[in-house]
Amino acid sequence: MRIYITRKIPEAGLALLGEYEVEVREEQGPIAKSELLKKVVDVDGLLCLLTDPVDEEVIAAGNRLKCISNYAVGFNNIDVLAATKKGIIVTNTPGVLTDTTADLAFTLLLSSARRIAESDRFMRAGEYIGWDPMLHLGWDVHGKTLGIVGFGKIGIAMARRAKGFDMKVLYHDQARSPGELEQQLGAQFAEMKDLIAESDFISLHVPLTDSTRHFIGEEQLGMMKKTAVLVNTSRGPVVDEQALAEALRDGVIAAAGLDVYENEPRVNPLLEKLPNVTLAAHIGSASHRTRSLMAEMAAENLIAGLSGKRPKAIVNPDVLDRKP
Ligand code: DGY
Repeated sequence: MRIYITRKIPEAGLALLGEYEVEVREEQGPIAKSELLKKVVDVDGLLCLLTDPVDEEVIAAGNRLKCISNYAVGFNNIDVLAATKKGIIVTNTPGVLTDTTADLAFTLLLSSARRIAESDRFMRAGEYIGWDPMLHLGWDVHGKTLGIVGFGKIGIAMARRAKGFDMKVLYHDQARSPGELEQQLGAQFAEMKDLIAESDFISLHVPLTDSTRHFIGEEQLGMMKKTAVLVNTSRGPVVDEQALAEALRDGVIAAAGLDVYENEPRVNPLLEKLPNVTLAAHIGSASHRTRSLMAEMAAENLIAGLSGKRPKAIVNPDVLDRKP
């Protein structure tokens, strides 16, 4: 069986695929759709990244394709419906990156509140002339209210971190979590409009779907506190980036910490100029250990999918469950 891997992944994953005929794309940067269309024609398995457009056309070109293993928990880059129609298994990597991503979200929250990136640039520019009572004043994190939008694994991990900072935690999701979990985390369910109005920090942890695209736009930003800090480690298009840039420029909200962008790898030019936004390079899961665990999980999912077994993390179980 043949496998195509669209970018070099950690060795831990590659080592598991020894029994297959594997081609790994060596070039840096995302694969172009035209190249993907050619590569997918005669492979049984595809191990791809969140930057790869595995759309209906690519799926249709995969004559022998049996399993698409995404090296990410988010799978908005894949047309799952088209894959399901063709009986192709789609898998992802949930769980292994939960805490690493929550660590990064909390890092962005702290960095944005305490103006770390701005202070770093200031120091490197040689502008520091000594301690000053008014220099780089930021916002306290401890004792403040954190609003978590999307209370899945990563949102819950974020709540755990907030507990250590004595924060009040509000959360919003489609469904309310069990009371036991709410109690354990000290988290309260809130309607979106209340969460937006009451939170000092808002952290986004929803998947990108048709209903979450531009979930945070001009209207929602306008309802936030003037001192609010927005953190996004989910997917860029969940936020209307132009509206956010204008809100940060005009003092509608105080600051933002972003790991994801609406048109990656491009960043809105206005955002790049603003001092009150911390920009990270989509590194939510980027620790040595977690990226290796993701590679192992993606490889294991692919092996299971190709050998007729149920992968640990299948996105479209219908493919296996439907009656012949
Ligand atoms: C994911 O897995 O979806 C992240 O965005 C990459 O770490």
